[in-house]
Amino acid sequence: MKKNLKLAIQKKGRLSEKSMQMLRNCGLDIENFQERLIVSAANFNLDILFLRDDDIPEYVQENVAHIGIVGENVVLEKGLDVKIVKKLGFGRCSLSLGIPEKSEINSAGDLNDKTIATSYPNILKDYLNKNNVKAKVIELSGSVEIAPSLGVADYICDLVSTGNTLKLNKLKKSFKVLDSQAVLIKSKYLDDDPELKVLFDKLVDRIESSLKAKKSKYIMMNIPKESLNKIVEIIPSLKSPTILPLSDENLLAVHAVISEDKFWEINEDLKKAGASGILSLPIENIIL
Ligand code: PRP
Ligand code: ZN
Repeated sequence: MKKNLKLAIQKKGRLSEKSMQMLRNCGLDIENFQERLIVSAANFNLDILFLRDDDIPEYVQENVAHIGIVGENVVLEKGLDVKIVKKLGFGRCSLSLGIPEKSEINSAGDLNDKTIATSYPNILKDYLNKNNVKAKVIELSGSVEIAPSLGVADYICDLVSTGNTLKLNKLKKSFKVLDSQAVLIKSKYLDDDPELKVLFDKLVDRIESSLKAKKSKYIMMNIPKESLNKIVEIIPSLKSPTILPLSDENLLAVHAVISEDKFWEINEDLKKAGASGILSLPIENIIL
C-alpha cells in the first residue's frame, strides 16, 4: 500500500475553515470533517489530522504529522524544532497588547511593574526584555481577555484580528508585539523519506500555484488595432499578452494575466488608450 502524507490542521478556530478552503483550492477532494479526528483526501495520498492549534508544532516535531498548517505565532511561541516552509497569506492577525478602554500607554516603558496576562509568555517576555521592561507575566491558556476585568492582570497580550474580542471586553489595542499569519511547517525527518518527499513537493507546488492564482486576474478587452503598442505597454503581464483578431478588422482582442492589485491602477490608462469592454475574471490555478 502507498504511504500517505500526514497534515495537521486546526480542528476549531480562526484557521480551520480557511485551511480547508486552501486545500480544496489545490484540487483536493476532502469530505466534511465534522467530528472525525482524521480524514483522507479521495484523490491524493494525504491524511488530514484535526488538532488543537497549540499542539500542532509538537506533532510535527515528533513526525506524527509530517506537515502542519498553523499560525506563525504558535510556532514562535513553542520554539520547537520544526521548519517553516512558507507563509500562506491567510489568517493574518497581530499579537498585540490589549489595555482597558480608559487607560493610556505611550511607550513600552509604561509597562514597568504592570501585570500582563497572555497565552504567549515566551514571545511576550522576549519583547519585554528587548525593550528593557520589567513587568509580571501571567500565563493563561484561554479567555485571556477577561483577566483585566477580574483584576488578575492590568493588561493582556493576545491575538487580535477583527478586534471584536477586545471590544466586547472593554479593551483596546495598544502596541503590536508581532505580526502573524498561517504558515506551512514540516518535520525535519520528512526529507529522509523519498516517498513522502515526492508527495510533499507535489502538494507545495499546488499550494504555490493556487496562491499565485488568488493574487491574479485574467483580463480581456477589445482595442483599436492602432493602439496595440500603447496597450501592451500599459499591461504588466505575467507573460506576453494574447492578441486575437476580431470579425471587425479594425479591432483586436487582448487577453492577459495581471496581479489583482494592478487591475484598478491600469483601468483608466487602458480606457484612455481606447480599450473597451474590459473584463476581469478570477483564475483557479496558474501552472508556470
Ligand atoms: C484568537 C484570540 C481571540 C480572537 C481574536 O483566538 O485568542 O480570542 O482570536 O480575534 P478577533 O480580534 O477577531 O476578535 P484563536 O481563534 O486564534 O484561537 P485560540 O487562541 O483559542 O487558539
Ligand atoms: Zn490555540
